[in-house]
Amino acid sequence: MQHIKLTIDKAFGFISEQAVAGYKAQVAEANATLHNGTGKGNDFLGWLNLPTSIDDAHLTDIENTAKILRENCEVVVVIGIGGSYLGAKAVIDALSNSFDWLQTERKSPVVVYAGQNIGEDYLYELQQLLKNKKFGIISISKSGTTTEPALAFRLLKTQLEEQQGKEAAQKLIVAVTDKSRGALRTLATQEGYKTYVIEDNIGGRYSVLSPVGLLPIAVAGFDVRQLVAGAVYMEGLCGTTTAFEENPAAIYAATRNELYKSGKKIEILVNFHPKLHYVSEWWKQLYGESEGKDNLGIYPSSVDFTTDLHSMGQWIQQGERTIFETVISIQETNHTTVFPHDAANMDGLNFLAGKRVDEVNKMAELGTMLAHVDGGVPNLKVELPKLNEYYLGELIYFFEKACGISGYVLGVNPFDQPGVEAYKKNMFALLDKPGYEAESKAIKARI
Ligand code: PA5
Repeated sequence: MQHIKLTIDKAFGFISEQAVAGYKAQVAEANATLHNGTGKGNDFLGWLNLPTSIDDAHLTDIENTAKILRENCEVVVVIGIGGSYLGAKAVIDALSNSFDWLQTERKSPVVVYAGQNIGEDYLYELQQLLKNKKFGIISISKSGTTTEPALAFRLLKTQLEEQQGKEAAQKLIVAVTDKSRGALRTLATQEGYKTYVIEDNIGGRYSVLSPVGLLPIAVAGFDVRQLVAGAVYMEGLCGTTTAFEENPAAIYAATRNELYKSGKKIEILVNFHPKLHYVSEWWKQLYGESEGKDNLGIYPSSVDFTTDLHSMGQWIQQGERTIFETVISIQETNHTTVFPHDAANMDGLNFLAGKRVDEVNKMAELGTMLAHVDGGVPNLKVELPKLNEYYLGELIYFFEKACGISGYVLGVNPFDQPGVEAYKKNMFALLDKPGYEAESKAIKARI
């Protein structure tokens, strides 16, 4: 069976193979530190052995809950922000038909998202969309107190109860939250919602293989067993007993740290399939929140090619040489479209006749890689044999494990996010939240 594959040789014109190999001991130590639980943030290591700890009963329970929502809803709203929605959206978008919301003969409810912003127009338009629709809600918040999802949940819960009646609504709401703390837990207990627990030791951005990701993914009709199976394989491969040369998480962590040391401060995650846009958003959160602290950390960025070759392509080719790229490459597409011959050939495209569209895309990918390497951009590649649940499971765990190792090599705590609190404090002060009186006074004096 094929598996995802990391290639780093196109970084070697910029950093040496020996320099990457020089991280062997450090990376092995970081990996061991994760598994011994002796490093920074060691109370948030629940993701480390999560894939192998998921049992059949848990998956069956998730599938059964998903079935209820699938059978009773045209639309399911996933409410959550950051780690509480990005993993689910990444997987669902990657596996869904690109025009999913326009499909008429649906086998699955449309999954939409709320609580990931505070856009009044967004929420208004969502409420209009849900009018007269049979909809359900999966409300996800580990803390149970995050403002954005809490605000969206109050609005949509009220609407659901008005449309369906309180008793019916209660059966169409699922809460995924802390086992005992937080407003969402209190509310769920009081209202009698079906709930799933986000374990204390799993941080938001490492939670996609918990019910946070698995439930919405199952509701969307995708095979969570295959997703977990892929992650299980990668958990084994990225373990402490695998040699450095065989461990993709170790090699990726070493390479990006060496690139960072050599002045490459920005990593651009590249895809050539628009369905992967949210995989990049998930990855940016994972690496951005994990490594961007203590005045350190690679800035994680992303582009969708070839679309962005017509915008950011210029900067990448010739802008400041502080970047490197990591390309997610899909070996085999799920569908086939062959470019037709045209007798008149007015568009001059007969040189493409008989070729698959993906062949053109692959040549764009290869041509771009060579051009960017020539232009001074080191290039790493992560190849997926196909875009399916299994390989996405491998990819997710690979990136998570590499992130933990990479953060330790960098010397930061990859499992906290103290910087996220700064905006919240100001927002609460500006909104006169009870308990923020002194901050309110101070901030209002500044504006
Ligand atoms: O990764 C993280 O910890 C964050 O992005 C959280 O997931 C995000 O802030 C949402 O938090 P909560 O699930 O507590 O509402």
